Amino acid sequence: MGILLAIESSCDETSAAIMNGRQVQSHLISSQLEHREYGGVIPELASRLHQQQIVRVVSSVLEDAGITAEDLNAIAFTSGPGLLGALLVGTSFAKGMALALDIPLIEVNHMQAHVLANFLSDRPPEFPFLCLTVSGGHTQIVLVHSFLEMELIGETIDDAAGEAFDKAAKLMGLPYPGGPEIDRLAQTGNADAFQFPTPKVGRFSFSFSGLKTALLYQLQAGMKEDDQFISRHLSDICASYQSKIVSVLLAKIQDAAEAYQVRHVALAGGVSANSELRRRFQEMADGAGMISHIPRFEYCTDNAAMIGIAGQLRAEAGVYSDLKVAPFTRGFDLH
Ligand code: KG4
Ligand code: ZN
Repeated sequence: MGILLAIESSCDETSAAIMNGRQVQSHLISSQLEHREYGGVIPELASRLHQQQIVRVVSSVLEDAGITAEDLNAIAFTSGPGLLGALLVGTSFAKGMALALDIPLIEVNHMQAHVLANFLSDRPPEFPFLCLTVSGGHTQIVLVHSFLEMELIGETIDDAAGEAFDKAAKLMGLPYPGGPEIDRLAQTGNADAFQFPTPKVGRFSFSFSGLKTALLYQLQAGMKEDDQFISRHLSDICASYQSKIVSVLLAKIQDAAEAYQVRHVALAGGVSANSELRRRFQEMADGAGMISHIPRFEYCTDNAAMIGIAGQLRAEAGVYSDLKVAPFTRGFDLH
């Protein structure tokens, strides 16, 4: 237990948290809005912005928690997966600080931390449970045996669910990130207005690139007839497209829950902020007699509190990292 500093810098959020045991004491997420004008995350820019922000973000959570660096017992940080240059900033900072303070260092896998965000709750899931992790870079079904033992049972073979939202938004001229925009526009649309094909892939695998291509063809065909097609049908297109993504995700997690005989199912990652996914996930679980878990909104998208809980759980199990640890771009385990 003890007091832990957690750092997240894998993509475009510079975030830090102070954990006191399993409780979040203070937390700050500094989002890099500078990428918006480019319509996606620019890796070099992300590294520079992390470098500019990290001292301020860490100082600020220490101050908010009413402690100084000398009060820390350990430092946890994201070692991967993510953008290498971005991860290097958090990794080097964490190492330097751990060395200077002579306290242990704990590396955390970002995808495992998304799953463990479900333990930042008063009513956490019971083992074994299945977690559907849906983010901008990943779509995974994870069988969680214990805090440290997780099995990846399926993932996307091409685009991630978040990418399917972001790329579709780009095709329709909507700003980045597209997920929240499509979610908002879909509220007033008719989900039956447009049809999209169901991807054909392995039982627990996902594929979203075909959906995006189907959307492109529908938009092109529509615009040929009417150059105002997109703006005239925007909310209907968003509602139909979003509904298809949600249906695909739910069908897979429901099938997996039956196959693995779990009673608890959880969501994780940025796309779990989606209002339709949250609603229908709960309905699906209720209908099947399962117990559903969804982290609080701020713990769904990239954040350091999830790195904090993952780090604290490793510390409880006595699992620490040495100073040779280096970041990695891909993978569900630690390297
Ligand atoms: O987990 P996250 O913050 O970052 C990654 O690790 O990728 O996820 C970001 C993704 C983006 O693709 C964004 O469009 C999506 O989450 N997202 C949403 C919503 N809010 C964020 N997608 C659909 N509906 C939302 N409300
Ligand atoms: Zn993430």
